[in-house]
Amino acid sequence: MEANHDFGLIGLGTMGKALLLNMLDNGNQVVGYNRTPSKAQAIEAETEGRLKVYSDMEAFVKSIRRPRAIMLLVTAGAATDEVIEGMLPFLEPDDFIIDGGNAHYRDTDRRLKDLTAKGFGFMGMGVSGGEEGARRGPSMMPGGTPAQYDRVGKVLESVAARFDGAPCVALMGHGSAGHYVKMVHNGIEYAIMQAIAEVYDVLHRGADHGVPEIADLFGKWNEGELASFLTEITHVVLQKRDDLADGWLVDAISDKAKAKGTGKWTSQDAFDLGIPVPAIDAAVSARQLSGYKALRGEVSAVQGGVTGVVSLNPDVVRDALLATMLLAYAQGLTLIRTASLDYGYETNLETVAKVWRAGCIIRSVQLEPIRAAFAANPDLESLLLDAAFGEKVRGLIPSLRSTVEAAVAAGIPAPVLSASLAYYDGFRSVRLPANVIQAQRDFFGAHTYERLDREGSFHAHWSDSSGQ
Ligand code: 6PG
Repeated sequence: MEANHDFGLIGLGTMGKALLLNMLDNGNQVVGYNRTPSKAQAIEAETEGRLKVYSDMEAFVKSIRRPRAIMLLVTAGAATDEVIEGMLPFLEPDDFIIDGGNAHYRDTDRRLKDLTAKGFGFMGMGVSGGEEGARRGPSMMPGGTPAQYDRVGKVLESVAARFDGAPCVALMGHGSAGHYVKMVHNGIEYAIMQAIAEVYDVLHRGADHGVPEIADLFGKWNEGELASFLTEITHVVLQKRDDLADGWLVDAISDKAKAKGTGKWTSQDAFDLGIPVPAIDAAVSARQLSGYKALRGEVSAVQGGVTGVVSLNPDVVRDALLATMLLAYAQGLTLIRTASLDYGYETNLETVAKVWRAGCIIRSVQLEPIRAAFAANPDLESLLLDAAFGEKVRGLIPSLRSTVEAAVAAGIPAPVLSASLAYYDGFRSVRLPANVIQAQRDFFGAHTYERLDREGSFHAHWSDSSGQ
């Protein structure tokens, strides 16, 4: 059998199929695999024979030129391991697997080790942009060595989204760096999505704005500094009429948010690394709390529902959302910086911001100035230390504060807006009340404390009011 393809793709769900068609349209000699013969045939028919799709793994693998490059876009976790296992008997030395799913970075570390030991190449790559992104141009975040990137860079660059002509794909660093960066991308995604939902709530429930009015606001905001994919789709979402009943579709959708887990992983890893990302934590908790719909009903019956009314200028709310978005990027990028140091990724934060500028779910006009901040100072520990970024956030904070104040006064939960404000206030506090915590720890556990005025470790006899 003749090997006449340069690149294979396994997993032709919505994303995989869209990406494969994108690769085909961009002149790549690609081939697909789908284990269900009827699905494989359906895709072949859809492309009028331009695309070959196998449902026989051996035939699929053998149809690719050696050393082979095969990308997986399958469900993260056990399904990915199963597909790799099924493919191994047919692979030959130096064949190269690229996992484009939302894998946990530790799984990527494990697969990298196993497959390298077996003589194969392996690369974990984050892919963002959903179906539309995959078809028209996703943002891609591969991790690995420059030599590995070179093997697939041309294909990836041919399909990636572009920002000012530059493809939104680049090496994120060594090993599992690509999946790590994608995980944090999703954590930021959770925070911005929840912030948008909170702003909607404050305007809708709190300030009595109708859905169409809020849709118009998002449309207007999307033309300015808030221009971003998530603002843009919110504008569209809020204009959708319900096909099955009167009114707006958004009003008919159950208020229980689901999650596949990447946001939670971001918080879990941030806790392990000791990096505060409170907006992401709050977004994860908010989705979890939303799931308790029945309990919310019961509590509301005994405690009373939210009745407060707020009076807020929509421009103030817009600025609060922008501040929160900027602070979400700041938290996520600081986390990536630390992970890079701890896990040896050698991630370049300018490159991260660069590939996020287009194609991905968290793309926004704010990412180009963020890229510039890291270009000027690659080792920036916090974006709040960048002069332009810091000044922008400082100017927006009064609006964030007023919006949080209004939400709090009305009893409307705004966990991500509030957590973002507390993050900002925390970092600009020279003195925090952690001294009180240290004193308590020393009181009940003799954990000792340090002093501000002298070196060393101290323990106090707390019940003796005369001193140590
Ligand atoms: C993307 C998205 C994508 C997916 C999320 C949804 O970048 O294209 O992040 O990866 O939509 O995994 O995640 P949740 O189901 O956890 O919301």
